[in-house]
Amino acid sequence: MILNLGNLPRTIWVEKSGGASVAGFVDQRRLPGELVLVRTADWREMVDAVKTLAVRGAPAIGVAGAAAVMLAAFEYAERPDFDDRLEKAARVIAEARPTAVNLSWGVRRAQEAAREASTAGKTAAETAEALYELAEALIAEDEAVNRRIGAHGTALLRALAETGAVGRPLNILTHCNAGSLATAFYGTALGVVYAAAQEGLVNRVFADETRPVNQGARLTVWELARAGVPVTLQCDDMAPSLMAEGQVDAVIVGADRIAANGDAANKVGTLGLAIMARHFQIPFYVAAPKSTIDCTTKSGSAIPIEERDPAEVLAEPIPGVAVRNPAFDVTPYDLITAIITEDGIWKPLKP
Ligand code: MRU
Repeated sequence: MILNLGNLPRTIWVEKSGGASVAGFVDQRRLPGELVLVRTADWREMVDAVKTLAVRGAPAIGVAGAAAVMLAAFEYAERPDFDDRLEKAARVIAEARPTAVNLSWGVRRAQEAAREASTAGKTAAETAEALYELAEALIAEDEAVNRRIGAHGTALLRALAETGAVGRPLNILTHCNAGSLATAFYGTALGVVYAAAQEGLVNRVFADETRPVNQGARLTVWELARAGVPVTLQCDDMAPSLMAEGQVDAVIVGADRIAANGDAANKVGTLGLAIMARHFQIPFYVAAPKSTIDCTTKSGSAIPIEERDPAEVLAEPIPGVAVRNPAFDVTPYDLITAIITEDGIWKPLKP
């Protein structure tokens, strides 16, 4: 299959514009209708972008976190209390969303770089420049990591498509958007799809719409169609019958945080797919960078689950009706066939 990955935008970047250092991002709230590119020099706007899902997906918000700390460093570079202000901004940025551990990882990488610059006797302005370089490096690193995840995932899919039970190009089911839009570029779960599709191993992707925010219906189908991968959109509750009809050869999803025991938090609805996949004996893969693995969290039950605005579920409140809106759920490790990282299959220390 010939793909057109050049048709996909960079999700997040940094640039020098009129002498200022700015961060740029695709405003994912506007997709699929409009491809809107936003540029900002204000770290608070980055925080708002993360909270409102203009920038979303674990690796993308990790990079956004580091870029936001960089913007704060430029803003406070002339202040005598630079260190304090940077520290406070970093705390606010890291708390923008609780579940994806990549956000605090990106902020921590920036804080470490700032401390290193200060220890080396750099001025605040020089520290800000060092953070700019770090943000550029993290963006490049993210794409490189995703391409390696893609290569490792392709080896697994090749075994299924060529030598395993399936013996033909695969039909793959995915949930939410763990694609190029959820990363700096290329994607994790969809990175595996892109790499495998280029090797002729993919027949079609089925994308769950992913209620309530519809990342599948708005983002996944948009990017797959733009890249040239055959894609079919379905409502979330159509997955079991599709599996029962034998139309799903593998499920591949991303993750927001993987605990030390291998339990994986991902978009709400993922757990149900994993249970169904086990019932129908379909391989269930999680594709994620090592920055998503949080060995300080022992098991899935300790992963903080973000509860979002009920209005995402029910636009007009109905008197007397309570609404739940947990944005993520946790899939126990024993339902996961393999966790695919940039270094290959990751095994938990204590399953
Ligand atoms: O709420 P979102 O859209 O940020 O949720 C995103 C997901 O759950 C993705 O599957 C996950 O971050 C992996 S992205 C490579």
